[in-house]
Amino acid sequence: MDIREVGVVGLGTMGAGIAEVFARAGLRVTAVEADAGALSAGMSLLDRSLRKLVSHGRLTQDEYAEIAGRVRPGPAIATLSGADLVIEVVPEQLAVKRAVISELDQVLRPAAIIATNTSSLSVTSIAAGSAHPGRVVGMHFFNPAPVMRLVEVVTTVLTEPVTAAAVTALATRLGKTPVLVNDRPHRARHVGRDPRGACARVRRHPLHPGAPAAPPDRRRTHGAEERRRVLRVHRGTAGLPGRIPG
Ligand SMILES: NC(=O)c1ccc[n+]([C@@H]2O[C@H](COP(=O)([O-])OP(=O)(O)OC[C@H]3O[C@@H](n4cnc5c(N)ncnc54)[C@H](O)[C@@H]3O)[C@@H](O)[C@H]2O)c1
Repeated sequence: MDIREVGVVGLGTMGAGIAEVFARAGLRVTAVEADAGALSAGMSLLDRSLRKLVSHGRLTQDEYAEIAGRVRPGPAIATLSGADLVIEVVPEQLAVKRAVISELDQVLRPAAIIATNTSSLSVTSIAAGSAHPGRVVGMHFFNPAPVMRLVEVVTTVLTEPVTAAAVTALATRLGKTPVLVNDRPHRARHVGRDPRGACARVRRHPLHPGAPAAPPDRRRTHGAEERRRVLRVHRGTAGLPGRIPG
């Protein structure tokens, strides 16, 4: 899948950094925030980071202008309708993330990808709230996003392989090192809050000596019935009907 046009929802610490990474890789970015004040603060954050690169001699003035010109503020999620991929970078609360994804479902074309930058929530739970859970995937950047090389591509039993492949290829194109990680479908990963969990996950990273090359494709190991069950359980906790209507 050719990803050229991206959306970033939430232009805080991580969102501004991720928007910068996309724009520096040549992608066109639309940034959406909760309100006009937060949008202007997020755009300033991004601008300050780019100007710092100019002052350190790592970008020319022309490059700065070109990169900054690729990021446009979008007043609402509706402005993301042409995006090939949208990453949500809103606060770490399941209800807030689900609300954003449900809005994205209304405006994006079916082939567009929805990524979440969650550190510790279950990506399965976030995906289950979508009308198209197969296109939802974790794309976990670390802080500061323009500097840190590792990007976790977090797949669930619901993720379409084409979605995971496209996000992995995109991370490589951004100059990052993508690492495929399986989400746990029945509970939050809690990795962000548990240093022992984080260590265990790093040990599983293919970059770590002795780690397996990549986790198995869980759509192969989990049949259709199991995927329906996972969907039912996670949608049930959100008070949604077990089956996606339509
Ligand atoms: N800060 C970190 O070190 C770090 C590292 C990796 C991942 N993360 C994850 O990234 C996500 C964001 O974290 P952060 O530190 O950037 O938070 P942040 O509070 O700095 O930014 C969140 C932004 O989302 C905006 N927002 C809130 N509701 C919104 C809505 N409905 N629509 C659009 N924008 C909305 C807020 O105004 C804010 O600017 C979280 O899921 C977090 O777990 C954070």
